[in-house]
Amino acid sequence: MKGFNAAIIATGFLISATGMALAQDATAPDPVKGKQVFNQCLACHRIGPDAKALVGPPLTNVIGRKAGSVDGFAYSPLLKAAGDAGLVWSDAEIVEYLVNPSNYLKKYLTDHGKADAATGASKMVYMLANEGQRKNVVAYVATFSTAK
Ligand code: HEC
Repeated sequence: MKGFNAAIIATGFLISATGMALAQDATAPDPVKGKQVFNQCLACHRIGPDAKALVGPPLTNVIGRKAGSVDGFAYSPLLKAAGDAGLVWSDAEIVEYLVNPSNYLKKYLTDHGKADAATGASKMVYMLANEGQRKNVVAYVATFSTAK
């Protein structure tokens, strides 16, 4: 009976330890894991000191940057309008944006009294459903931004 109790206690401990590890995973974004996710962004974006525009704008120093403000990049009117309405990229904003860029920008404009500008679509035709991956990739992106 003693051994049985010990087994139950040990199992309980394992379950709670796993729960803690999972909870930590959900709250602490990991830039190392995010580097892997960024391979998907590389289809269109570059990041780093010499990054140039590709299909998408360079993401160097994107945290703290006004949305749609890289000189010479032909943004969609939707993204431009969101920047003019006050959207400045923070970690949290990009994590939400990646769920569905067009919907995110339309909601931003509507919430900021610019429903008339909430038409058309973002040029970014990419979405990332997985929240953990979104947080990790943004943590990676943030390592290339001086304003964090
Ligand atoms: C299929 C190409 C493509 C992929 C893949 C892609 N993007 Fe984009 N991204 C774009 C384009 C194009 C824009 C400009 C959108 C617009 O003008 O509406 C953009 C804009 C952005 C912006 C806004 C930048 C600014 O200057 O305002 C951020 C942030 C961003 N992308 C992050 C990401 C991240 C992070 C990933 C990967 C998880 C990613 N993108 C994957 C094409 C892409």
